[in-house]
Amino acid sequence: MTEEIKNFKKKLSSIKINNEKELESFRLEYLSKKGLISSLFSKLKQVSKENKKFVGQQINEVKILANEIYDLSKIKFSSSDSNQKFEDYSKPIKILKLGSRHPISIVKNKIIDIFLKIGFDISEGPEIEDDWHNFTALNLPEYHPARDMQDTFYINKNPDWLLRTHTSSVQIRHMENNKPPIRTISPGRVYRNEDISARSHCFFHQIEGLYIDNNVSFVDLKQTLLHFTKELFGKNKIRLRPSYFPFTEPSAELDIYWGLNSEADYRITKGTGWLEILGCGMVDPNVLNNCGIDPKEYSGYAFGLGLERIAMLLYQIDDIRTLYENDIRFLNQFSKSI
Ligand code: DAH
Repeated sequence: MTEEIKNFKKKLSSIKINNEKELESFRLEYLSKKGLISSLFSKLKQVSKENKKFVGQQINEVKILANEIYDLSKIKFSSSDSNQKFEDYSKPIKILKLGSRHPISIVKNKIIDIFLKIGFDISEGPEIEDDWHNFTALNLPEYHPARDMQDTFYINKNPDWLLRTHTSSVQIRHMENNKPPIRTISPGRVYRNEDISARSHCFFHQIEGLYIDNNVSFVDLKQTLLHFTKELFGKNKIRLRPSYFPFTEPSAELDIYWGLNSEADYRITKGTGWLEILGCGMVDPNVLNNCGIDPKEYSGYAFGLGLERIAMLLYQIDDIRTLYENDIRFLNQFSKSI
């Protein structure tokens, strides 16, 4: 038996395992339940009592050796396996298709850039608002008829929680928390209880602008809007048409002269050459008072515009719904307009 074990050991030490398949055959032949090492152990019964301990130790050594051979080869093959994977990584790179920015984001970033360069900062507010910030503080007390201009999604009636109908609510929050001089723009999503069609949706995006300091006048508003129009549209003819908003006095609508150079220009401007772009005005003294700013000391202007309208104009999109459908064929068209 000792002789048999010795030969076994010799044979084991000279074994060469070359691949995973051979490793598995080795395991089956030597280490499995019905393998050679198990059968060696079963022969231990025939060994005399005085030799049992010694022979048992010898078989154990063989078992340890076989296990070592198995474990080492296994590590070798699994690491050569990862070498294999590493080699894969060195193959030519699969080119991933670059995504594109959403047209709303492109327009938003363009507008933000224009205003950051002239000293404005960015402010944001919650989409779920209370009545005070969305209406009352903006000079729209309860039952004010102008509330009907913006069909509202109410979440709760008492206390009033609603989905903000405009980003003008951020003006109020900003004035409550900051002292003049204030120069801020507030981009964000707003909601209105409106039917969904090619021209309107139940949510859209706006950017609000607010400038409060000593001696801010209508001329400052006009010049800032002219600068904005030149930068964004490359157009330098504007007009301010009298309008009404409860939070500004006087209020105006900004039109830009788009021109009538193509058939599309006739269609977009309804043959007039002029396009309405945004609402604006001088911040009503009541609004300043509501936010703890003294209207005798300070004055300011505000404006608000819809991003969808601008994106549709710049990229000739004629159905607002395409902006929210996430159709990759539509979105891919904007991959060059970062
Ligand atoms: N909040 C107005 C709207 O959603 C837009 C607007 C008009 C904002 C005039 C202003 C402003 O700040 O001065 O229709």
